Amino acid sequence: MKKEAKILIADDDAVLCELLQDELTHEGYTTEFVLDGKYALEKIEQKKYDILLLDLEMKEVHGETVLQKVSESYENLMVIVLTAKSDVRTAISCIRDGAYDFITKPYDLDVLLLTIDRALRQKDLIEKNRILANRVEQARPGKIVGESIVMRDLINLAEKAAKSDSNILLQGDTGTGKELFAEFIHQNSKRNNKPLVVINCASLPDQLIESELFGYEKGAFTDAKTSKQGLVEIADEGTLFLDEIGELSLALQPKLLRFLENGEFRRIGGVSSQKSNVRVIGATNKDLMKEAENHNFRRDLLFRLNVITLTIPQLNKRGRDIILLAEYFLKKKSPYRSLKKLSKEAELYLMAYDFPGNVRELEHIIERAIIFSDGEYIRIEDLNLTNKVEQETKNRVHLGEEIFSLEEWEKIHIKNALVYNNYNREETARALGVSQKTLYTKIRKYNLI
Ligand SMILES: Nc1ncnc2c1ncn2[C@@H]1O[C@H](COP(=O)(O)OP(=O)(O)OP(=O)(O)O)[C@@H](O)[C@H]1O
Ligand SMILES: [Mg+2]
Repeated sequence: MKKEAKILIADDDAVLCELLQDELTHEGYTTEFVLDGKYALEKIEQKKYDILLLDLEMKEVHGETVLQKVSESYENLMVIVLTAKSDVRTAISCIRDGAYDFITKPYDLDVLLLTIDRALRQKDLIEKNRILANRVEQARPGKIVGESIVMRDLINLAEKAAKSDSNILLQGDTGTGKELFAEFIHQNSKRNNKPLVVINCASLPDQLIESELFGYEKGAFTDAKTSKQGLVEIADEGTLFLDEIGELSLALQPKLLRFLENGEFRRIGGVSSQKSNVRVIGATNKDLMKEAENHNFRRDLLFRLNVITLTIPQLNKRGRDIILLAEYFLKKKSPYRSLKKLSKEAELYLMAYDFPGNVRELEHIIERAIIFSDGEYIRIEDLNLTNKVEQETKNRVHLGEEIFSLEEWEKIHIKNALVYNNYNREETARALGVSQKTLYTKIRKYNLI
């Protein structure tokens, strides 16, 4: 399997190295060799290998030292120790220190090929497992609910954008679904069998963001007792989601820019650059163009990021999606076998509400309503909306009764009709059976647009 795998051989016996290289190349592997542990360390720092065939007795840097470094810093590199028959005890201790297996010299080619094959399978499993663990941690990506024209167009665009390999900027107010779209894009891209790695640029101080992103070498700073892989490394061949990218400090922006330009980065305290191939998705609720004009965000970085920009609309611009989403959350969160429904009034009420917190707010409203509603139906009071609509409504509704004033009904009804017709006044007026002039007066009166 996986014959495209790259193998590095480190052995001070040049004849053996050449022989091995011939045989492994013949099998389809890409192979390089070095004659000392010292050079092995240099090579693995510069390049990604899948397998290291490692001799123990080498003049300058001993195999065990190389192994130690690999176990510390290169989790994805599988080490197979090459050892003399007389030294099997050391080889076993190498396995304890993180080597995958050992082969005794003179080696048997079939055994060696089998061991390489097994090591590659193991590596594959480890990677898959890590991706799965990462996914479970983020909970399964949900589906995107939305049948309004704006959302259908957006989902369409997102699908196309996912197939390209460009960086993407997701712009949208809080709770509109930026993270959900990032997951959607990753899942629909050819990188979906590799990790989607998430970092929130607003949640950590500068120094930590840098070390999380790019990793560090042992001793790079006081607490760096071991070295650590950065997220850009972990995300190699996958997707890196930079949430709240508008919060990234001006000090870090050039470092990110450099990485976006050529995929190169350097661990903190590291001497050489490494490469990683990631697609970056950034998300922000800011207007980054404006931030750039005000010199809070670098223009060159913005242009690297927003090769494709997807703008996610506010929930109150999505018409009936509000109800579809409410029903989706009801289904998702109702207790087993007792699916609750929205009363007609609650539906109208939701349609009239602004949702400053967008989909997340709706999700919380429904979650809460399920808990507080007694019967099969969610009623208006279960929604507990503390907003303008609610305040206005309260003034007009008789205390303790669910009776709207006629005016309130009218307002809700007109708003509903407007949203339903995508704010097209001509169609709305026709649907309501009034003239456009009457509709216009009511819109003004109730402050509906
Ligand atoms: N169209 C949708 N269909 C189904 N669920 C959605 C939709 N949009 C958002 N959600 C859900 O709403 C919640 C908030 O979405 P998400 O976290 O993606 O928003 P966000 O834009 O990243 O918010 P913030 O700016 O606050 O980080 C999540 O639970 C998400 O699954
Ligand atoms: Mg988010």
